[in-house]
Amino acid sequence: MQSTFSPITFNKTEIKVLNQTLLPRIEEYEVYSDYLDMTDAIKKLKVRGAPLIGIAAAYGISAAINTHTASSLAELLEFYKKLRYAFYQTRPTAKNLFYALERLDRVVENPNIITINQLRDALENEAILIHKEDEQSCLKMAKNAAEILFNKKDNYTFLTHCNTGSLATGGIGTALGVIKYLHSQGKNIHVFVDETRPLLQGSRLTAWELHKERIPYTLITDNMAAQIMKNHQIDAVIVGADRVTKNGDSANKIGTFQLAIVASYFNIPFYVAAPKTTFDTSLITGDEIEIEIRDDSEVTRFNGVESAPIRSKSENYAFDVTPNALISGIITEDEIYFPQYKFFDK
Ligand code: MRU
Repeated sequence: MQSTFSPITFNKTEIKVLNQTLLPRIEEYEVYSDYLDMTDAIKKLKVRGAPLIGIAAAYGISAAINTHTASSLAELLEFYKKLRYAFYQTRPTAKNLFYALERLDRVVENPNIITINQLRDALENEAILIHKEDEQSCLKMAKNAAEILFNKKDNYTFLTHCNTGSLATGGIGTALGVIKYLHSQGKNIHVFVDETRPLLQGSRLTAWELHKERIPYTLITDNMAAQIMKNHQIDAVIVGADRVTKNGDSANKIGTFQLAIVASYFNIPFYVAAPKTTFDTSLITGDEIEIEIRDDSEVTRFNGVESAPIRSKSENYAFDVTPNALISGIITEDEIYFPQYKFFDK
C-alpha cells in the first residue's frame, strides 16, 4: 500500500510543498528554493506533523546547500551551521526534527567528505533516505497493528485526534496509516474524527484524507469525545506522537491527554502509533518535554475573525503529554510495546 499523494517533493534545489493551511478548500502547492521560505512554512504549519517536519528540514537544508555558491568546503560548512540553527528554531516539540538534524550532522562530520560536491551529494542522499525510511516505517507500523491488535474481527470503529496521515509523514501515516491500511485489507472501518481545536487538523486534514480514501468517518468537536465513547462501540482510540520519552510518556497534539483519560474511564484501549524517530531516549519522563506555545490569536480568533473580546487572555499550548499509565500500547515499526515501558534499557 502506498500513499495516493505526497505533501512534499524534492528536486535538488526546489521543494514542492502542499500548503496545508489552505486545505480542505484549496489544494495548492508552493515551490521553495530559499531556506527561509521553508522555515517559515514549518512555523506556519503549511507543512506539519512530526515526521514530515523532519523530512522538510532535511530537504530544506539540502536544497540550500545545493544552491549556495561557496568557494570552499569550509565556507559551505559554515553555511550548514547557519541553516541548522534556522531549522532547529522552528518548532520545539517534535523529536523527528532534531533526529533529522542529527542525521545530517553525522554526514557533515564525516571525515571522508573533502569536496563541496561530495558534501552536496551526501546531504541530498541522506535527506532522501530519511524520507524513504519514514515511508517504510509507516507501512511496518500499520502491518504490526493489523497483525497483532486488529486481527480478530471484520469491523472496527476508531476515534482519532489531529492529523497523523500522509499529510503528517513520508508515507501512509502513523495512527491514520494503521486505519487506512486496515481499510485497504478489506476491514469495515468507521472513524470518529476529532475536529482538533484550535487549528482544526482533524476536520481540515484528517477528514480530507479519509474522504479521499473513501473511508467512512464522522466528524465531532473535541468536547463531544466522552459522549461519543459512551454512546458508540469504540474499539480503540488511536493517535500519533511528537515525542515519546524513555518511560513511554507521549507528547501529542493538545487534547490527546484528555482523550486518554476519557478512554480509560470507559475501558477503551488507547494506542499511540509512532516511528522510532519520535523516541527521545535522552528524556526520562514526559515532564522534560518542551511543549510548544503558539500565538494567542489562534485561540482568540476563528477563521481570521475575532471570537473573543479584544485583549482576552488565552493559553495556547500546541501539545500535551499523555502519561504512560494511560497508554495501552505503543505501535512502532519494530514491534508493539506494552506496559511497563522501559525503552532502550534492555
Ligand atoms: O501541530 P501539528 O499539526 O504539527 O501537530 C501534529 C500532531 O500532533 C500529530 O498528531 C503528530 O505529529 C503525530 S504525526 C504522525
